[in-house]
Amino acid sequence: MKKWLLLLCFTGSCFAGEPSEPRQAELRTLVKNDCSACHGLTLQGGMGPSLKPESLAGKPDELLITTILNGRKGTAMPSWKSMMSQDDITWLVAMLKSGK
Ligand code: HEC
Repeated sequence: MKKWLLLLCFTGSCFAGEPSEPRQAELRTLVKNDCSACHGLTLQGGMGPSLKPESLAGKPDELLITTILNGRKGTAMPSWKSMMSQDDITWLVAMLKSGK
């Protein structure tokens, strides 16, 4: 639990930016509908890499957040800036890493 909070603090959103419950539900739906197209139905990987906790472990949160926020130039990974805030994405990355 302590480690968890430390992680959130490290990415600069210490307690402040957690999305509301309804927004969290929306984000889960978005991942299911939109990310799965490239990352696989269970996020096991497809055209894009696996987003399973074991695949994301060890990758810096900053890198993952920036990738989702801005996309990756020269790859199919699009920017989600227009759909999600930085707080949304910070929460999402923690969710993906924890596998919940
Ligand atoms: C149109 C296809 C496509 C969609 C839709 C897509 N991605 Fe990606 N994503 C990719 C590809 C391809 C890469 C690998 C980019 C590279 O080669 O570096 C990637 C990379 C990533 C990475 C970096 C993974 C790593 O191991 O470095 C994350 C995190 C990620 N995507 C999250 C998401 C999330 C969250 C969504 C939904 C909101 C999403 N992606 C939707 C194609 C997609």
